[in-house]
Amino acid sequence: MKVRKQYELQAQLSLPFLSTSSKALTHIFNVLEKRFSLKKGSTQKFIDLGAGNGNVIVHSALNYSISSLGIEINEILIDEIKERIKILKEKKLYSSKILHKIVIKKMDLFQQDLSNFDFVYLFSLPTMQKYLKHVFLTAKEGAIIISYKYPLDGFDSIIQLEYVLDIKQEKELVKTYYYKKVNF
Ligand SMILES: C[S@@+](CC[C@H](N)C(=O)[O-])C[C@H]1O[C@@H](n2cnc3c(N)ncnc32)[C@H](O)[C@@H]1O
Repeated sequence: MKVRKQYELQAQLSLPFLSTSSKALTHIFNVLEKRFSLKKGSTQKFIDLGAGNGNVIVHSALNYSISSLGIEINEILIDEIKERIKILKEKKLYSSKILHKIVIKKMDLFQQDLSNFDFVYLFSLPTMQKYLKHVFLTAKEGAIIISYKYPLDGFDSIIQLEYVLDIKQEKELVKTYYYKKVNF
């Protein structure tokens, strides 16, 4: 097996696909709007590191009409997102200007430069988060990093916790953590 393919499989074992629910996304984006200056139709840029089936970037683009980029390593999920965008286009419920704001890129999230983004979303696992320091270092000052379910521990010198949101999901209480990139 080629090293690249092996790396891709290993990456998905370290961080498998799980989806942020639509209900959670509504709450998470409400907080971004109310507390972190997310503006509908603005030139702000959103990125999801490990985009899964595209739930997050589709929500971002359709509801806020901002540039929404998803980084994903799994080709099957990428095809799923492309199919979803195609169906949205066919349904003609949204303008092509809005749909063009959804972009999916096959890439390793550990190689991503964050300097262009205002909002960085991730639903990751504590076991792989420790390898993210060099990625967060590329974010611009003031960028908001949103971590669903798990706090980002060990990055005190580069990101600052600003807010914690509690979301009731069936029987459990799920937290979302909002950090700001700081240049100390
Ligand atoms: C927990 S899911 C989150 C999906 C989506 N962000 C959401 O919240 O609905 C994590 C995703 O990251 C992808 N992934 C894992 N390692 C990756 C890597 N190194 N580069 C890019 N994507 C990766 C997985 O394939 C999976 O789809």
